[in-house]
Amino acid sequence: MAALTDVDQLNEKLAKAELTRLAKDMAQADVAYHQKDAPEISDAEYDTLKQRNLLIESRFPNLRRKDSPTDKTGAPVSSGFSKVKHAVAMMSLGNAFTDEDVIEFDSRIRKFLNVDRDKPLEYTSEPKIDGLSLSLRYEQGILVQAATRGDGETGEDVTANALTITDIPPKIQTPLDILEVRGEVYMAHTDFAALNESQMKNENKLFANPRNAAAGSLRQLDSQITKSRPLKFFAYAWGQVSEPLAETQSAVLARLTALGFSVNPLAATCANPAELIQHYNSIELARASLGYDIDGVVYKVSNLGLQSRLGFRTNTPRWAIAHKFPAELASTIVEDIEIQVGRTGALSPVARLKSVTVGGVVVSNATLHNEDYIKGLDSKGAPIRGGHDIRIGDWVTIYRAGDVIPKVKGVDISRRPDWAVPFEFPEKCPQCGSDAIREEGEAVARCSGGLICPAQAVEKLKHFVSRAAFDIDGMGSKQIESFYKDGWIAHPADIFELQGLYGSSNLQQLKNREGWGAKSAERLFAAIDDKRNIPMNRLIFALGIRHVGESTALTLSRHYNDWETFNVAMKNSFEHSGVDWEVLNGIDGVGTVMAAALVDYFNEPKMSAALNRLVVLLNVQNVAVPSIQGSTVAGKKVVFTGTLEKMTRAEAKARAEGLGAKVSGSVSAKTDIVIAGPGAGSKRKKAEDLGIKIVSEDEWLTLIG
Ligand code: IVH
Repeated sequence: MAALTDVDQLNEKLAKAELTRLAKDMAQADVAYHQKDAPEISDAEYDTLKQRNLLIESRFPNLRRKDSPTDKTGAPVSSGFSKVKHAVAMMSLGNAFTDEDVIEFDSRIRKFLNVDRDKPLEYTSEPKIDGLSLSLRYEQGILVQAATRGDGETGEDVTANALTITDIPPKIQTPLDILEVRGEVYMAHTDFAALNESQMKNENKLFANPRNAAAGSLRQLDSQITKSRPLKFFAYAWGQVSEPLAETQSAVLARLTALGFSVNPLAATCANPAELIQHYNSIELARASLGYDIDGVVYKVSNLGLQSRLGFRTNTPRWAIAHKFPAELASTIVEDIEIQVGRTGALSPVARLKSVTVGGVVVSNATLHNEDYIKGLDSKGAPIRGGHDIRIGDWVTIYRAGDVIPKVKGVDISRRPDWAVPFEFPEKCPQCGSDAIREEGEAVARCSGGLICPAQAVEKLKHFVSRAAFDIDGMGSKQIESFYKDGWIAHPADIFELQGLYGSSNLQQLKNREGWGAKSAERLFAAIDDKRNIPMNRLIFALGIRHVGESTALTLSRHYNDWETFNVAMKNSFEHSGVDWEVLNGIDGVGTVMAAALVDYFNEPKMSAALNRLVVLLNVQNVAVPSIQGSTVAGKKVVFTGTLEKMTRAEAKARAEGLGAKVSGSVSAKTDIVIAGPGAGSKRKKAEDLGIKIVSEDEWLTLIG
């Protein structure tokens, strides 16, 4: 521990000087290595400098330099494409599966906007192209950048490849300084078949479906390969624009057509849910003869003014929905039933199936959910699948809905072999032997082994590095399992110490592991270093706290603004009471069960020790609240109470949040503004007592402009 003590004893002045020197030395080494291809120091020496720098930064976070070497990985982005931050996030869509879902979509919108049922509300209905989305940025009419969706915030720069697609014009005639056109890259059925044929001839890997073929072709490092693949593009949306494009969705589509883009010819305008459903049915009938894959129909509120009033939930628009086609079915045999142990200890049965193709994808597993599901009972004990249980040896029908793991729809009792016996759900965790406990009223049995259960530990680590969490390139399930097995990592913090604090002995070891070489080992360490800068929402999600998903993690990050404030608030709430506890429970989308799970996690001694160890190795970044330019209420905590007369409560809340305000359901000392309409009662009284600013709805509207 000599180095730690040494750093602890550094005073600020010395630390600052050392950080300056380290930045200079490392910048010089970077130039020598990356630009001149003539390294001046060994990799091991470079690692030592880097770790020293990191150690000082973790002790003196206020001295961290703007050009800190920690922020530079030096290594190329693993995929080989540079990253692009989208000027306007690329959202996904909520799903509808039934006619009722469509009717409800329309009702929700009417309720939000306060538009009566007898008043017209126009929609567009467009085929949902099954490809991959692409954002094309034109500046002064010239295509300057094409980016994939990525995680919605950041995608990959595939400009050179996009320029090889004939449907994508390199230049357009437009008065707009900036125009981002968005749409779907896809491959037609005939082109897909021809590509696979040539893949087969050349003994190359076959693509599972046209979507994979399109994705694989667009993400080629050599754009000549992309050029040889017949990709197509349909435009249907836009990102950043220097001026509004039109007043309605259909007018935008017409304008995109006039600019030279391909727009799907089957788009239609519809006046009500019945017409939407009718259009959906007609497209479903045409589906087989279209010549390209679609997986549903997208409905959008046509008027763009209404679209902007409706705005977005965390990552889906309120003004659009995807009405998906029913999933394809296939029959196969259950060869085995295995029990998997999840990160929260949940025992999940999985059917191992004789491989079968469903919707172009080979399937060999299906989820069986829980003990009751296998028995043929739903969560309330009512029979499902005609009350038939599922046994090893049974013939089952399976389906895939979206990209999710396949499910079992039914079981064919007539084909059940004589030897098939009812499945006995285990009473012990198959991984660690601890009791499997199924609590009263719970559908799921859980391993009671906690931290001693290796399966839980491994699953927690897998979740930690997963795409929506730390997303560490080169660190997937396989690597986690093997590093865990060898005792290299047991907790998330170990990942960031994997490289060794004092040099690169672990690099040597990693290089020597089977399947690893110098390049891949260095790349992995660079990828890990790259993620030391982590947005707060990703960190919260990565912890794998029960009930806390991606969207809540984002809400919490925006609400508490920085890690320290959040951490303190969770610690202060340890007794499930007090001001911070009330504030937490008042956050929209946070219920008592979730609040309790969060607070208990932060106050469980082992968890909190592991968390503290992790956080000092990271640089947790605050998450910007969206679109707050010119906002007078950004960051303010506001509460609406009483009746609002100018807009619905939902719209008021969405608008306030869009301007960066934090809307809460309860008044506390931390509240900045209470908007009180007629009939406001106890919340208004509490605000008066606490001396909080109270405004009317009109005053609020003036305030937000
Ligand atoms: S609109 C704000 N329209 O579906 C959302 N998306 O599941 C803008 N997609 O990521 C998307 N066809 O890649 C829209 N006509 C269409 C579409 C479409 C396919 C894809 C798109 C999106 C995904 C959401």
